[in-house]
Amino acid sequence: MGSKVADLLESNGVEVVSGGLDDGVDYLEGTGVPEALEGVHTIINVLNTRSFDKDAAVAFFEGTTRTLSAEGARAGVEHHILLSIVGVGQGDASDVGYYFGKVAQEKAVKEGPLPYTIVRSTQFHAYVPVLADQHAVDGEVRAPRELIQPVALDELVSLLAEVALARAPLGELEVAGPERYYMDDLLRGTLAASGDAREVVTVPSHGPVDVMVPRGEYRMGHELYPVRGIPLAD
Ligand SMILES: NC(=O)c1ccc[n+]([C@@H]2O[C@H](COP(=O)([O-])OP(=O)(O)OC[C@H]3O[C@@H](n4cnc5c(N)ncnc54)[C@H](OP(=O)(O)O)[C@@H]3O)[C@@H](O)[C@H]2O)c1
Repeated sequence: MGSKVADLLESNGVEVVSGGLDDGVDYLEGTGVPEALEGVHTIINVLNTRSFDKDAAVAFFEGTTRTLSAEGARAGVEHHILLSIVGVGQGDASDVGYYFGKVAQEKAVKEGPLPYTIVRSTQFHAYVPVLADQHAVDGEVRAPRELIQPVALDELVSLLAEVALARAPLGELEVAGPERYYMDDLLRGTLAASGDAREVVTVPSHGPVDVMVPRGEYRMGHELYPVRGIPLAD
């Protein structure tokens, strides 16, 4: 996400400083952070951890974001843009440890010293096969009958760049794709289209069926999910 947004902004004439681990910047350890933020107007926070363990995810998202906010304020940053996930704002985004991390991250941004925009997105199209793997148990995929409204990555990249170019904090906004599915149908159709023979078994939803889709106003992407013929939710 970060490199795609950087490329788009650079093609619009914006100077972008890349601040990830590969650049020698570590927001958990605090290494290289003041140098990376020197002269920066806007932070686009697309930090990520691969940990789904609750404590590790909370420590990562809260720790990195608090460091970024505090050092950003010291450096004179005027806008903190955070990429979050639809459902996290309601605080009831399932029992997945990763989501607790995102809740803590949003809280850190809201309590932090910088004016902010939180962009909450639904799952990216390309993330749907990963979602299938995350729900795989004993060779089958156990998918809850929950609503899901995936969005094209490029449309989200454009939105993040647009928010950065506007240079004015917008508070909170949500973005989702144009079509709503049930997760079990979406995973079944996606696996079948890629020749993946794993069976998708429908399991009951643990929480509200609409936890992963916008409940209020949102920006709707136009790009359709690339696998066609999957039944839409009513
Ligand atoms: N997947 C989805 O469907 C979805 C939906 C909505 C929102 N999101 C959100 O999108 C965001 C970005 O996701 P992504 O897929 O682009 O993540 P990603 O490919 O894993 O990239 C994460 C970035 O964080 C950097 N990073 C990790 N630990 C760091 C540390 N301690 N200090 C400094 N930099 C660190 C990495 O740097 P290096 O590259 O140098 O290692 C990398 O640039 C996440 O916050 C995620 O919650 C995802």
